Amino acid sequence: MVSQSVYPPAPLDPAAVALSLRPFGESRMLPRAAYADPAVFAWEQRHMFGGGWMCVGRSGQVAGPGDMRAEAVGAGSVLLTRAEDGALHAFANSCRHRGHELLPCGASTQQNVIICPYHSWTYGLNGGLQAAAGFKNRPGFVAGEWGLAELPVTEWHGLIFVDGSGTAAPLADSLSALEDIVAPYEMERLVVAGRHDYDAAANWKILTENYHECYHCPMIHPELCKVSPPRSGKNYSAPGIWVGGCMDLRDGMATMSLDGASHGVPLRKLDDKGLRTVIYVNIFPNLLVSLHPDYVMVHRLVPQAADRTQIECTWWFAPEAVERPGFDPGYATEFWDITNRQDWQACESVQRGLGSPHAVPGPLSAEEDAVYQFVTMVARGYQGERAWNTGVTAPVS
Ligand code: FES
Ligand SMILES: [Fe+2]
Repeated sequence: MVSQSVYPPAPLDPAAVALSLRPFGESRMLPRAAYADPAVFAWEQRHMFGGGWMCVGRSGQVAGPGDMRAEAVGAGSVLLTRAEDGALHAFANSCRHRGHELLPCGASTQQNVIICPYHSWTYGLNGGLQAAAGFKNRPGFVAGEWGLAELPVTEWHGLIFVDGSGTAAPLADSLSALEDIVAPYEMERLVVAGRHDYDAAANWKILTENYHECYHCPMIHPELCKVSPPRSGKNYSAPGIWVGGCMDLRDGMATMSLDGASHGVPLRKLDDKGLRTVIYVNIFPNLLVSLHPDYVMVHRLVPQAADRTQIECTWWFAPEAVERPGFDPGYATEFWDITNRQDWQACESVQRGLGSPHAVPGPLSAEEDAVYQFVTMVARGYQGERAWNTGVTAPVS
């Protein structure tokens, strides 16, 4: 099941990709072209972002009947709607008449029908064509044949995922080993109280690889190292379309903030360990979920080009924290804004460094086992297999 061929292989040297799949300790990073070549980027957009489940936003952005939102999925975009019965739908954001986008990508609206802005073809919230000017009595025109193309959509802990291929296995199956880790945070009931949007001049995989190791932390994150020992914690070894690990908080530190103090409320279902730990999870291909004792931070990566990625970063808190008079999410958002910028700066430098024709894929340190898991998941995808983390890392000799 894991090795089934689902994509054509990526336009990369197969021998170079195979080097990334050698056992941990012997492997090399992905070939330079994987980070810089527009042809590889186009392949990824089609087969990794548009070819399976990917996160397109939060349930709260399409909360009530008539709420609609358009978001990028691979090379195209998807229109999300919430129907009267509360069901969430995802449609190709392309009118069945001549293809106009039904809503610009990134826009939201609230209406009880979907009206194409070009010639006003009108669809119900469930995608059925309701009106097409001038077509009413046209012989042979059957409105029922011209509904919007629907894609599989699912909600998972307050996040919306769409399967651009229409054929992927259920998302929950690929995340089953993650369920017990994420469930106590009750993300579906949390409230987004902070948001920063970033534009990084770096490939999406460089940003993700950076997320998966703290080998760099002593060099670039003095604030982070003050509250969390960079060599603490461990990475998970479980199969699925995710990679993750955890780190400890230093004694006396309640959360990740500049002084280690929390100005929120601990999440109510966490046990003692959960209150002393920060968990970092990447759900392939585009989501980074960082679980703290008193808040959750979510990075949603939206690749724009081989060397450019938009990043939507949101901070989620317990409703009982947000409802407190004078609640200020700044203790979390300022800490991570500083840390995020340190990371993007490093990642942009990696992107520039990989621009050199003399750059060759390097080896991974013993502290980069989660990078290895991510890289091997991507490399399997490049070979035409399903992108899948086996969760296995052999020890570095
Ligand atoms: S393209 Fe939508 S109504 Fe013409
Ligand atoms: Fe970092």
